[in-house]
Amino acid sequence: MASEATIPEHGRPADELLALIDDRHAEDIDWRGGRAFSLVYNVGDHEHEELIEQVGVRYLHDNALNPFKYPSVLQMELDVIAMGCQLLGTAPNAGALSSGGTESIFLAVQVARDHARQVRGIAEPQLLTPSTAHPAFAKAAKYLDLEHVKVPVGADGRADVAAMEAAMGERTGLVVGSAPCYPFGVIDPIEELAGLAAERGVLFHTDACLGGWILPWWEELGEAVRPWDFRVPGVTSISADVHKYGYAFKGASLVAYRSRELLQHQFFWYDEWPGGLYASGTSAGTRSAAPIAGAWAAINHLGRDGYLRLTEQVRATTRKAQAGIAGIDGVKVSHEPDVSLFEISGDGADIAAIGDVMDDRGWNLDRQQGGLHLMLSPYHAQVIDQFLDDLADAAAHHGESRGVEATYGGVV
Ligand SMILES: Cc1ncc(COP(=O)(O)O)c(C=O)c1O
Repeated sequence: MASEATIPEHGRPADELLALIDDRHAEDIDWRGGRAFSLVYNVGDHEHEELIEQVGVRYLHDNALNPFKYPSVLQMELDVIAMGCQLLGTAPNAGALSSGGTESIFLAVQVARDHARQVRGIAEPQLLTPSTAHPAFAKAAKYLDLEHVKVPVGADGRADVAAMEAAMGERTGLVVGSAPCYPFGVIDPIEELAGLAAERGVLFHTDACLGGWILPWWEELGEAVRPWDFRVPGVTSISADVHKYGYAFKGASLVAYRSRELLQHQFFWYDEWPGGLYASGTSAGTRSAAPIAGAWAAINHLGRDGYLRLTEQVRATTRKAQAGIAGIDGVKVSHEPDVSLFEISGDGADIAAIGDVMDDRGWNLDRQQGGLHLMLSPYHAQVIDQFLDDLADAAAHHGESRGVEATYGGVV
């Protein structure tokens, strides 16, 4: 696709533009039909979807750059932070709301970099992650000019504690673990890693962008969940996206710290220009108020019982998917996933060729180097039988792989 669009000489009527947009939008991924995984977390509840849309529209034009001009937005932001911090186990004022997981990770990395410089006197701190950490960490290292030390994970897909320990040195400024990691859905041994970091006075970040809003309920349903949150003594920061399993629309993630003192490394105050004191709590300047209001509405509409109900649904679909895959010759689930996302790899069959058949049948599965990525939302309960039938058929009847590359994201 390319564009040579120019600004139209004369404005076009609203109804004409809406009709054009509707036509084009119909060509986009069909997430409402349960055919998308990971890009959208489909609750499958019309009332919930409509509520957050309405709230988004009400706040579409408001700018949270100066929250004190919008007391209603300020209150909602403080509420979302307090509710999220409570879920993760830290003080209600020890977090901030950012635009997404990547921004939350950038902020936690920046806090750790400045903490290492200011408190520990390390001029050039390093960022230490397992190889399964989200690319946002590599991107943060690039943008914040830090050396990224990456350690291969073990055969179980989890961070290798001994190898991570061996990589910790004088310059380590932040150690990272995921709960869970995106590629395999496994939780790293956070307790061990955070303990090693704490012994050395090094900060530790749990990337719970995916797990932050589902693991607490998963545990409450009686599942054994490997420790990952602030109950683990060495964990000093956590990212947890409300726009993933919090079921808000895009643009809302929580970054939380063990103390408000740590969070303060993130704040920015500047008065060396003629425009007066400029203060901001995250990397954005102008911020849309809509995702703040949407997150507030999503959390309050679902409540603890709503999250438990949806998590139960996701758990049942996950179990059904995993049992179904175990019964299909030629494919298997990679590793032992801890929650509702995992990789499907080939077990004698060519997984890339199976992926081609699934593509042809309209399933949008992300491709990884080792297989296909599956991430389940509540709505997938409606389509999981069809999915498994198609997967079984694809495993039994597929041709040569078309060689589709493993990709995630895109640049225009
Ligand atoms: C484990 C993990 N961390 C971080 C991110 C980045 O989040 P975002 O895409 O909202 O920036 C993702 C996104 O899927 C993720 O899965």
